[in-house]
Amino acid sequence: MSGNNDLRFIVNPGGVLTGRLRVPGDKSISHRSIMLGSLAEGVTEVSGFLEGEDSLATLSAFRAMGVQIEGPDAGRVQIRGVGLRGLKAPVDDLYLGNSGTSMRLMSGLLAGQAFATTLTGDASLSGRPMKRVVEPLTSMGAAIDTTATGTAPLRVQGGSRLSGIHYAMPVASAQVKSSLLLAGLYASGKTCVSEPAPTRDHTERMLTGMGYSLQREDNRVCLEGGGALRGIAIDIPADISSAAFFLVGASVAPGSELLLEHVGMNPTRTGIIDILQRMGADITVLNARDVGGEPVADLRVKSTQLHGIDIPPELVPLAIDEFPVIFVAAACAQGRTVLTGAEELRVKESDRIQVMADGLRTLGVDARPTADGMVIEGGAIGAGCVDSHGDHRIAMAFSMAALRADGDIEITDCANVNTSFPGFVEQAGRMGLAIRTR
Ligand code: S3P
Repeated sequence: MSGNNDLRFIVNPGGVLTGRLRVPGDKSISHRSIMLGSLAEGVTEVSGFLEGEDSLATLSAFRAMGVQIEGPDAGRVQIRGVGLRGLKAPVDDLYLGNSGTSMRLMSGLLAGQAFATTLTGDASLSGRPMKRVVEPLTSMGAAIDTTATGTAPLRVQGGSRLSGIHYAMPVASAQVKSSLLLAGLYASGKTCVSEPAPTRDHTERMLTGMGYSLQREDNRVCLEGGGALRGIAIDIPADISSAAFFLVGASVAPGSELLLEHVGMNPTRTGIIDILQRMGADITVLNARDVGGEPVADLRVKSTQLHGIDIPPELVPLAIDEFPVIFVAAACAQGRTVLTGAEELRVKESDRIQVMADGLRTLGVDARPTADGMVIEGGAIGAGCVDSHGDHRIAMAFSMAALRADGDIEITDCANVNTSFPGFVEQAGRMGLAIRTR
């Protein structure tokens, strides 16, 4: 729990972003490094680990199940894997804070254990839909109890004999896909998941890197239970979802130029770059390289006048976490931006369509929420006080809006920025954003 619901950001208007920075490690890969490293045989050495509350919640949960984990120390973590059958029953419930990834992936993994566990979270996580994993896991043979509305706490009974299924996901969700693949490690026969559109594939890449055999063709991934994972070294790139705030900030603040270093460029995550480039952004990909099975590059971004676009719906899953800051880019652009096909935004850490529309309107922006997206007319941004609803990405997105505002922007309920981007205020301040906390 963040423990400080009153933390506010106050951001003075204007400013220019310049310099070079490496944002913290990728959240999705950090979670998976702990989960798969724990289930591997041998030691997994992680560098670039995100020391944010979400990934630390996963780390604590695996420690509570008997895994010896050293660190994090300046992004280094050492995990002594216990093998697929080596986890121990935790004494207490596993508290996962704000982290949907921890809860959804772990429910699959824990469904295959011999012991029962209870997964709990904060108010936001306790309101998020869990049936999307519980239903297919139940058809694999798992026994998982939820509240009457299908939310946490989740009681994962364990001790079930799982069988592989072929599951066509109704929503494009990497969390659902990963949850089923993790359960599939414990299932008899083959588990196959097909997706309606490509979603992030870090689980598949890490399983492959740890020597587990996967079959991937078209929109489907399959694996068979009963194999083993091998501990490896994992160098986690900077999180493109955290870099996104600076890509937008430097694009919209005249005179800006930033170099973002060692950014993860997995093609299932780079929708933010495609969308900004379609809006006219000046982003150059430099020094593209492969680091331990994940593509990485440095990104140079220079300010430019953006223009509004119709965002292609097929890019939505590839930029799913970046829409709060894309809406800010749209508010600074010339003309109209239209987003459709993004109803998933309503069930993230907050209802990101409503909360962003409310905040933008408070700042005088013409933002019209729709069932599955938003219509934004670019124009001037005014001063005002906006509520982030405890959503980290909303707090950081509105911080960047101040670069183009005509007065202070105050943002409430910002403590959860620590879930994904510890040090945001300091790092953004060093780059030129006039941000302070209260
Ligand atoms: C994540 C997948 C996405 C994303 C979340 C992290 C992951 O969720 O929004 O922040 O690590 O698998 P969905 O797969 O549910 O869209």
